[in-house]
Amino acid sequence: MKIALIGLGSVGRGVAEMITKKDLGLTITGLADSKSGAMDPKGLDIPTLLTHKKKNGHCGDPDISTLDIIKKADYDALVEVTPTNALSGEPAIGYIKAALARKKHVVTSNKGPIALANKELRTMAQENGVALRYEATVAGAIPIMHTLEHGLAGNDILALYGVLNGTCNYILTRMADEGLTYEQALMEAREMGYAEADPTYDVKGIDASIKLVILANNIWGHDVRLTDVDCTGIDLLTPDALRLADDEGCTIRLIAEAIPRKNILRVSPRIIEKSHPLVVDGTLNALTLETDMAKEITLIGRGAGSVETASAIIGDLLYIKDRYDGSA
Ligand code: HSE
Repeated sequence: MKIALIGLGSVGRGVAEMITKKDLGLTITGLADSKSGAMDPKGLDIPTLLTHKKKNGHCGDPDISTLDIIKKADYDALVEVTPTNALSGEPAIGYIKAALARKKHVVTSNKGPIALANKELRTMAQENGVALRYEATVAGAIPIMHTLEHGLAGNDILALYGVLNGTCNYILTRMADEGLTYEQALMEAREMGYAEADPTYDVKGIDASIKLVILANNIWGHDVRLTDVDCTGIDLLTPDALRLADDEGCTIRLIAEAIPRKNILRVSPRIIEKSHPLVVDGTLNALTLETDMAKEITLIGRGAGSVETASAIIGDLLYIKDRYDGSA
């Protein structure tokens, strides 16, 4: 299956490297970063283009834009991993629409378009007979969308609880375990490349809220928005609060919850027992689903990272490759 990859940040590089390294039946025929593009229907020489980007700051021809790749390259599926804009979703919404209009499948890790325009984009994909998949938007490598769609098919999902932001979890872990200040821990999380470009998205609970919106709309067909989430971040938490929780055998985690029967859609720091399944360390994410048949299921895994997020994207691509005859 031929792939056009737009976005060459940490996630895009991970996808490019894994497709090149592993024999998956995927060929990259279009590639764009923010400054340039390259296309070849027979397949691009990815290692050379990545080296070129390292040396020169861009991967291809500066006269070829991202939209040129989407509109003109020869590909079956677009991998859209450009930076998230949670307010407008643009330019990524426009990119996704341009690919769907050409009847190309789309796989994205971009939270903005899926939180803001999921219904419209899904309808457009359906009308064009192609897939729109976004496993990588929530909880990095954890296959939550595949689990909901396949493993838990037929279950009623009654509620979900999750640690959905690796940066906050890392900060809370480092403050509690090593006595770091909030500022020191945040600086470390940024250095490790887990935080959003604007880390206030992480620490104020906005990133976790966006992921909660994506999950709620996906599971229950709701049309909730970021403003519907009752959101409190961890930016005002003091080391004293963590110490007090510790005295009681507890700790603090930023928990996202969706409980439709109680009308709850909330992200907030919660005091929980250390033995609770949602108490994971560092940048791990965790998600508990409460269901009618399977009862409680908890998934734990890496919530961010280049290759970890590539795992979710490649899972979506191979799902499309297997499912849609004729495009592979
Ligand atoms: N900033 C996000 C996090 C990255 O820390 O979880 C993954 O969405």
